[in-house]
Amino acid sequence: MIIKNVNLETVCGITSRLPENELPEIAFAGKSNVGKSSLINGLLNRKSLARTSAQPGKTQTINFYNVNQAMYLVDLPGYGYAKVTQEIREKWGKLIERYLHGSKQLKAVFLLIDIRHEPSENDKRMYEWIVWNGYDPIIIATKLDKIKRSQIQKQLKLIRTGLNVKPGTQILPFSAETKQGRDEIWALIDTLIAP
Ligand code: GTP
Ligand code: MG
Repeated sequence: MIIKNVNLETVCGITSRLPENELPEIAFAGKSNVGKSSLINGLLNRKSLARTSAQPGKTQTINFYNVNQAMYLVDLPGYGYAKVTQEIREKWGKLIERYLHGSKQLKAVFLLIDIRHEPSENDKRMYEWIVWNGYDPIIIATKLDKIKRSQIQKQLKLIRTGLNVKPGTQILPFSAETKQGRDEIWALIDTLIAP
């Protein structure tokens, strides 16, 4: 996809009505700090359109980025963020659930996992939850630049077995630093949103 114009069109908090968009949507889920907002910036060739932070818990709303008036990239709040109350965490969970369950235009959900770590219980739960909602999660292994090249295959396998992914599930490595993996992710998104 050649990025011609992008804008943050809709921001939804825990009490918001979710938009009834006409264009296809692709959503990005994953634990807090895994790199969802950085991935979106990388895909859109923008440095800081989606706000990122070294502090987990940066994105606390569902953010819809309109791309070329042709589709939306959807940034979801991260889970597993310790510094909020259980009550707020549950409300975010409900918001994400409302979105996954209710969107008519959602074409695919990408689940981001840090390539350095084995998937957590929360990651496994999220994977199952996406499947439960009728989607085949596509995995992105983030922060590829943080490991040695010789470790990549081993770490990808750890993610594959840790999440117990369905056969045929794609796991795409990506680095927001080097943009390695960007073209492959766009190629996949292009096929997912094709009419
Ligand atoms: P929340 O909004 O809190 O859910 O986090 P997020 O998943 O949106 O993470 P974000 O994109 O804000 O990135 C978190 C931190 O990880 C930031 O300091 C980023 O610079 C860093 N980061 C993200 N992706 C990469 C990457 O590919 N490589 C490296 N080295 N750092 C990354
Ligand atoms: Mg974020």
